[in-house]
Amino acid sequence: MASVLVTGGAGYIGSHTCVALMEAGWEIAVLDSLENSSSAAVDAVAEITGHRPRLEVADCRDEAALEKLITEMRPDAVLHFAGLKSVPDSVADPLRYYRHNLESTAVLMEVMQRGGIRRMVFSSSATVYGPPDELPVSEAATTRPVNPYGWTKLLIEQMIADVVRSDPRWSASLLRYFNPVGAHPSGLIGEDPEGVPGNLMPYLLQVAVGRRDALPLYGTDYPTPDGTAVRDYIHVMDLAEGHLAALQALESSAGQVHTYNLGTGRGASVLEVIAAMREATGHPLPYEELGRRPGDVPELWADPAKARSELGWSATRSLAEMCRDGWAWQSKNPQGYS
Ligand code: UD1
Repeated sequence: MASVLVTGGAGYIGSHTCVALMEAGWEIAVLDSLENSSSAAVDAVAEITGHRPRLEVADCRDEAALEKLITEMRPDAVLHFAGLKSVPDSVADPLRYYRHNLESTAVLMEVMQRGGIRRMVFSSSATVYGPPDELPVSEAATTRPVNPYGWTKLLIEQMIADVVRSDPRWSASLLRYFNPVGAHPSGLIGEDPEGVPGNLMPYLLQVAVGRRDALPLYGTDYPTPDGTAVRDYIHVMDLAEGHLAALQALESSAGQVHTYNLGTGRGASVLEVIAAMREATGHPLPYEELGRRPGDVPELWADPAKARSELGWSATRSLAEMCRDGWAWQSKNPQGYS
């Protein structure tokens, strides 16, 4: 059995990936500050898998805590999810974002280097592309983030690539997520945003469960078939399995850094998502048509061919399953983990 340290493992994508890893036989430990996540997610991972992963409550910039955990655990690899992730917050307070996200990755990699742990999978984002020149977006597309959050992801990608170049014993996989949604089908773990959800799916789920009245629908005049913006929504369990495939591939990738899009390759409009969610929840889900949200692009979807050919991974779950499983989580946990 191999072992992996999961930073940010109590968060939304981290917790789902923990389940996929543990079910595939990996031993895991979670390092999480719980600043924007809950230890209840780790309890739920234990309930789903029948094994309780070690949880170390510490910030990723806490060098002493990291050193202790890595020395005791001696993981074969690190999956690095921990980080700040709100686009509007990053615009309002860019220094906090640059400092937090870059410093935590630098500290993590220094500690890994000292401990001789040199395999890493990093949570990047399709945000690094910015407005696309053409669709679908492949990994070779130009990167030009339009907000500080996206820049932190791109700069961290560069930092990791430079480290791998400096020492060929390192290997890394940079995973650019499109729009992760849904939940584990058990409904025991899911996305639990703080405050008013900034993203479409969690907002819709809170309307369905009665926490909010109507979805603000941002933009009905886009040059798309129904006038609403199109995104590549991917089931969070497909995404979790993508991490597993990337992790396995690192074993034979010394000296290499690979970048992969994790998306389905299919776009869905906001109106299509609302329709699918109405079907899954049985709720009417009213919406209010508003103007475009600043910074939004009309259409974005992935070319996921590279992950398919090199990792043997592709997303298999449908939009209907994303909605069904998101609803399983929200209906069981109307207030999230609290
Ligand atoms: C957002 C983030 C992106 C992140 C991704 C994760 C921004 C600008 N980008 O992408 O960095 O990686 O989430 O999933 O925040 N919409 C509404 N009403 C709402 C919320 C959203 O109509 O209340 C629309 C948006 O205008 C957009 C679509 O739904 O057209 C998807 O929005 P969202 O879920 O926020 O994802 P992205 O903006 O694509």
